[in-house]
Amino acid sequence: MRDILQSLKFITLLFVIAAALLVAGVVQQANAAEPKNPNTFNRLLTPKKPFNLPPAEDGYHDPEGEGVAYLQPPKEAFKDLVKSNVGNHVDWVKSLETGKINPRFDRLDPKAKPIVMDLNIVREVKGSMPNVVYPHKQHTEWLDCSNCHPAIFIPQKGANQISMAAILMGQKCGVCHGKVAFPITAKTCRKCHSQPKGKKKGKAKKTAAKKQE
Ligand code: HEC
Ligand code: HEC
Ligand code: HEC
Repeated sequence: MRDILQSLKFITLLFVIAAALLVAGVVQQANAAEPKNPNTFNRLLTPKKPFNLPPAEDGYHDPEGEGVAYLQPPKEAFKDLVKSNVGNHVDWVKSLETGKINPRFDRLDPKAKPIVMDLNIVREVKGSMPNVVYPHKQHTEWLDCSNCHPAIFIPQKGANQISMAAILMGQKCGVCHGKVAFPITAKTCRKCHSQPKGKKKGKAKKTAAKKQE
């Protein structure tokens, strides 16, 4: 009889402990879930990367290198430029247009001027995505025709097959965009897909011109 009572006590104790653990677990979970915004979902579970770190911490420069201490940190160099919310967080086109930067077109000749060509190429996109307006102007302010023609693009409207898949794999526009020019993210679709559907082609220039103002 005593034995049975003892084992009963023991079993009850086990139950109490299990219940306590369960309650503790639920409370902890509730606490952990509380501060999170239920509407943000990091699908690829990538941590938010820090950007524009000082040269010694950026992973490209040798932190032990003698010269590293003399390099200007990007955050200091970029502080007066026009901001954007992607890439290295500088809107380079606007920074150039507003005279915040004045890059040399030729490494050796400080007086060399670029051949700026103001010609928009509209690429109609099937489906609901707005059409792509490729602006020659903003490109030829820094780039030479030979940067694109003929290796990346045959200089003839419609002669090149361009797809989003190719761009994301680093071809066509992706040779530069995502590497030395603004990246392809959900925040930048409209920079390229800038002509709403149903507008006449003639209006493309106006849309682009308005954007520049
Ligand atoms: C950043 C890349 C890039 C640069 C730099 C560039 N182009 Fe283009 N160019 C394009 C693209 C993209 C097209 C459209 C091709 C298509 O639709 O298949 C194009 C089309 C053209 C066309 C065809 C226009 C038509 O209506 O058929 C000509 C001509 C041309 N470019 C000349 C030039 C000249 C001249 C320069 C230098 C002043 C230059 N491009 C610089 C990307 C570039
Ligand atoms: C040879 C390199 C190169 C290629 C190829 C290239 N771009 Fe660019 N693009 C640039 C650079 C450099 C800038 C200016 C810097 C920035 O905005 O990040 C730029 C800027 C732009 C802009 C911004 C204009 C603005 O007003 O802010 C658009 C739109 C654009 N590119 C579209 C395209 C499209 C569409 C293609 C493919 C048909 C393409 N680019 C191919 C280098 C390139
Ligand atoms: C650097 C410029 C650029 C950016 C940024 C960009 N696109 Fe594109 N996109 C293009 C070009 C160029 C084409 C080809 C248009 C054609 O058919 O000639 C294209 C085509 C497409 C198409 C048609 C189908 C296909 O795969 O060709 C879809 C859909 C599309 N883009 C979606 C997007 C979305 C969504 C984003 C943002 C995440 C985006 N694009 C960002 C330049 C761009």
